[in-house]
Amino acid sequence: MHFLFYAVLCALFSNLVVAKSVIPRQPPRSPLSKRQTTIKGQQFPSLINVTTEDLVSGLEQGLFTSVDLTTAYVQRIREVNDTLHMVTELNPDALAIAAQADARRANGSVIGPLDGIPILIKNNIATDDQMNNTAGSYALLGAKVPRDSTIAAKLRKAGVVILGKTNLSQWANFRSDNSTNGWSAYGGQTFAGYYPFQDPSGSSSGSGVSSSLGLALAALGTETSGSILSPSDVNNLAGIKPSVGLTSRYLVVPISEHQDTVGPMARTVKDAAYLLQAIAGPDPNDNYTSAIPNNGSIPDYVAACNFTSLEGARIGIARNVIDLSSDNSTPPVLAAFDAAVQVIREAGATVIDNTNFTAYEQWLSDNNETLVLNADFLVDLANYFNELTFNPNDLHNLAELTNYTHANPLEDWPDRDTAVWDGRGGALQQGWNNTDPRFWPAYQANLFYGGPGGILGALDRNNLDAILLPTQFSPGIPALVGSPVVTVPMGFYPSNETIVLERRGTLVETGPQIPFGLSFLGRRFSEAQLIGFAYAYEQRTMIRNQEQPYIVPNIELADVVA
Ligand SMILES: *[C@@H]1O[C@H](CO)[C@@H](O)[C@H](O)[C@H]1NC(C)=O
Ligand SMILES: *[C@@H]1O[C@H](CO)[C@@H](O)[C@H](O)[C@H]1NC(C)=O
Ligand SMILES: *[C@@H]1O[C@H](CO)[C@@H](O)[C@H](O)[C@H]1NC(C)=O
Ligand SMILES: *[C@@H]1O[C@H](CO)[C@@H](O)[C@H](O)[C@H]1NC(C)=O
Ligand SMILES: *[C@@H]1O[C@H](CO)[C@@H](O)[C@H](O)[C@H]1NC(C)=O
Ligand SMILES: *[C@@H]1O[C@H](CO)[C@@H](O)[C@H](O)[C@H]1NC(C)=O
Ligand SMILES: *[C@@H]1O[C@H](CO)[C@@H](O)[C@H](O)[C@H]1NC(C)=O
Ligand SMILES: *[C@@H]1O[C@H](CO)[C@@H](O)[C@H](O)[C@H]1NC(C)=O
Ligand SMILES: *[C@@H]1O[C@H](CO)[C@@H](O)[C@H](O)[C@H]1NC(C)=O
Ligand SMILES: *[C@@H]1O[C@H](CO)[C@@H](O)[C@H](O)[C@H]1NC(C)=O
Ligand SMILES: *[C@@H]1O[C@H](CO)[C@@H](O)[C@H](O)[C@H]1NC(C)=O
Ligand SMILES: *[C@@H]1O[C@H](CO)[C@@H](O)[C@H](O)[C@H]1NC(C)=O
Repeated sequence: MHFLFYAVLCALFSNLVVAKSVIPRQPPRSPLSKRQTTIKGQQFPSLINVTTEDLVSGLEQGLFTSVDLTTAYVQRIREVNDTLHMVTELNPDALAIAAQADARRANGSVIGPLDGIPILIKNNIATDDQMNNTAGSYALLGAKVPRDSTIAAKLRKAGVVILGKTNLSQWANFRSDNSTNGWSAYGGQTFAGYYPFQDPSGSSSGSGVSSSLGLALAALGTETSGSILSPSDVNNLAGIKPSVGLTSRYLVVPISEHQDTVGPMARTVKDAAYLLQAIAGPDPNDNYTSAIPNNGSIPDYVAACNFTSLEGARIGIARNVIDLSSDNSTPPVLAAFDAAVQVIREAGATVIDNTNFTAYEQWLSDNNETLVLNADFLVDLANYFNELTFNPNDLHNLAELTNYTHANPLEDWPDRDTAVWDGRGGALQQGWNNTDPRFWPAYQANLFYGGPGGILGALDRNNLDAILLPTQFSPGIPALVGSPVVTVPMGFYPSNETIVLERRGTLVETGPQIPFGLSFLGRRFSEAQLIGFAYAYEQRTMIRNQEQPYIVPNIELADVVA
């Protein structure tokens, strides 16, 4: 254990020396150029600060059209993509879709709040249009799906302009033990916007970066364990990891049917709530959605955004999770966490410390989750391949995908390995899938660590509404039981923070002005309550506004409105 730590530290140190020439010690200030924020004589927020309600109001007043908005976002993407590589493909139909929304508005048949509003989606959520759904691999380039994923269909039904696809950690980070967050063969390396070469986290990396810089109103990500929460954490976002089963996974490239979920990543809690409203709901093509309570009816997440919702709430802190996970880089996070707890108390909540996850320490050395993910992936990936109406490389299972990945030099193997598939303890070596008798006990172990030994037990024993954690410690346990988490900006590393690089030495993991968040964890299908808590905290603090990214696109709506 100690030897391992030492080896890691040495690796970090030598990486620092290697990378010193490219990574500046202080982030450059963002270039101050003129930002046109007056449209037709009226003040309008910059697209990096704009909310759903601002956009609806601007569209209603005729300050701009959906076509203008789409044009502005496309230009903003083009401005920064050469540096940050966050969007893999633009939707060639986006302007035509926006024009239809404008036509609806002109004849008084607006569908709802998201009608004509551009949203980006992660490149593992399939659309039956000109865009590819690759999970970042050439294996799926050119593949065709029989119809839109249910999520994409729901976005279209809400009038959303699906603007493009965002880059991700390839295969949602289920391929390699030595790749980087935000890297995919098809999309290259995504960087985040608060520090040069910033690690965007993952796997919904491009969604995090795009939403934060205002390259669309917001974006969708997917999570198996941390893939919405972690990039929301480091990109200064409000992110919702919904209960597994609240949002359909039909035609989303999978890892695990027991853990995968699709959710919004937005600059404000209310924007995320609007987006969750549009994508939640039962789907006959994903029977996990039959677990949605109240016969599948969905609460009003937007109305849940209530300034007083922390009044009378009982909120716990899983202190042992914080203590067991802290390291040299956490003191600024813990200081901000203490301040957040104070805000939450002042908002009328009872905060109870030491409502621990009792089996957390045991879980840290348990490996049943890997068994479950491997077992699910073998089946769920094969099912995804089988859904394709055109399968360009004729791949049908993980063994064939592994060979394809080794054979195509664009996949950067072996420099980025495929250990999650063919390494020791990888899915192929494990060999058995979720129909095997060994699956059940492994899954039951997960339900224990997440349930009585984890979040659900802590909530019940202490009669709590939610548990608070710094977001960097929040995803692991809820992942095991499919319970929801909402994260919201909580602070930033100070300007003298020591730069820490990830193990390949190419990305800045910790450094000056890098954001971090606060998580509210709750029972399955308690999203409305968690959204209320997160909103009440956000509106009292507005932490997001305390720092600006080092790189900000200059194009604004005013530049494109005729
Ligand atoms: C963004 O950059 C990446 C990496 O170079 C590239 O693959 C992608 O096509 C670019 N996106 C757009 C919209 O040009
Ligand atoms: C309004 O315009 C839309 C888009 O062109 C069209 O689909 C719809 O039928 C029109 N509705 C009415 C009431 O005219
Ligand atoms: C999808 O990939 C194909 C290559 O197979 C490419 O020709 C096409 O332009 C891509 N679509 C988009 C929207 O980039
Ligand atoms: C979901 O459907 C599969 C087969 O399509 C079936 O085996 C499984 O029991 C169903 N699960 C639920 C919860 O209905
Ligand atoms: C917010 O919640 C309070 C109860 O805590 C309720 O009285 C009030 O009507 C709610 N406000 C809105 C705008 O829904
Ligand atoms: C919870 O964990 C903290 C920190 O590890 C520990 O000090 C405390 O005694 C624990 N409380 C309970 C009730 O187990
Ligand atoms: C899975 O959980 C069981 C029961 O807690 C335990 O005995 C076993 O060692 C765990 N397996 C792994 C691979 O961690
Ligand atoms: C899952 O395992 C069963 C039993 O070994 C096997 O028959 C089936 O083909 C496997 N499914 C996949 C997709 O590999
Ligand atoms: C993968 O490649 C190896 C070595 O070329 C070969 O033995 C094996 O049969 C291939 N597996 C599949 C599933 O194509
Ligand atoms: C990644 O792991 C593979 C397999 O162990 C190794 O060949 C490769 O050199 C590693 N890449 C880096 C950058 O360490
Ligand atoms: C940064 O400055 C603060 C306040 O002066 C100090 O407490 C802290 O130790 C410094 N951090 C580092 C990493 O030097
Ligand atoms: C966005 O809002 C913040 C906080 O009000 C402000 O500091 C920043 O300058 C705004 N950004 C732009 C580009 O207007």
